[in-house]
Amino acid sequence: MGGALLKGWFAQGLSPVDIMIVEPGGRAVVETANEHPALTVLTDASELPSDFTPDAVVFAVKPQAAADIIPAYDRFAEGGTVYLSIIAGLSLNRLIEMLGRDAAVVRAMPNTPAAIGRGISVLCPAESVGPSQKRVCKVLMAAAGQTAWVTDETDMDAVTAVSGSGPAYVFLLAEALTEAGIGAGLEPALAEQLAHATVSGAGALLDAEKSSAGTLRENVTSPGGTTEAALEILRAEDGLSQLMKRAVAAATQRSKDLAG
Ligand SMILES: NC(=O)c1ccc[n+]([C@@H]2O[C@H](COP(=O)([O-])OP(=O)(O)OC[C@H]3O[C@@H](n4cnc5c(N)ncnc54)[C@H](OP(=O)(O)O)[C@@H]3O)[C@@H](O)[C@H]2O)c1
Repeated sequence: MGGALLKGWFAQGLSPVDIMIVEPGGRAVVETANEHPALTVLTDASELPSDFTPDAVVFAVKPQAAADIIPAYDRFAEGGTVYLSIIAGLSLNRLIEMLGRDAAVVRAMPNTPAAIGRGISVLCPAESVGPSQKRVCKVLMAAAGQTAWVTDETDMDAVTAVSGSGPAYVFLLAEALTEAGIGAGLEPALAEQLAHATVSGAGALLDAEKSSAGTLRENVTSPGGTTEAALEILRAEDGLSQLMKRAVAAATQRSKDLAG
């Protein structure tokens, strides 16, 4: 995810001389670093210049590694630096504990379409974060696609369940539609092609049109027609809406449990 953000920052026109990467193996950034020789890639926080005062420090490491890595960046906390973490489940309080009480921290939850700049990231600031620090975080996450803010940190569990995990639900829809097409007698390759093109095409249409998803659905549903026959099953009492509510509730609960 850090590598995807980096690509997005370059696409937005950020200069390599304004970025320093710390990554022990350099794996996520090797391709981008080759394209931008002026980019500094370090293997440890201790290699950062002593007079370095970044506008923002972005944490994109695994949750289980966070406690070992983050405290090494605490020296920037009093210099106006904003810390932006995309680490799933790591609370603002835990981040502040690791960095010191003056740290201005923002949590963000991106999703995987960030890899092609089509993600959505929800940001949540600690109380101490000022307007210009928020602007910096918004610009940094805009490299991954759309952005939105929440002020109540408990909303981040539901955000994780809806947009963080959401791409997997859509991929499952494509799989299920493929299987159903095969079940209806189509060749597997054709069923898969139809399902993928339908999911991605419908997604693009939803993005391009100003209408709501409900209106677009109604527009393709003629009374007594084929779509209506399918929607009667999908919209039954035990249909997709109920299933989706249960799925999102389960993911929200898991997000709460993982955060402790
Ligand atoms: N993937 C997603 O869709 C997604 C969505 C939302 C949030 N997130 C969050 O994003 C974070 C990263 O996830 P990911 O899927 O991108 O994991 P990942 O591919 O395993 O990336 C973790 C990165 O951390 C680096 N790292 C390890 N030790 C480090 C250290 N001491 N200093 C600096 N960097 C270090 C790793 O570098 P090496 O390869 O050199 O070890 C690797 O590039 C996670 O906290 C996850 O919760 C991910």
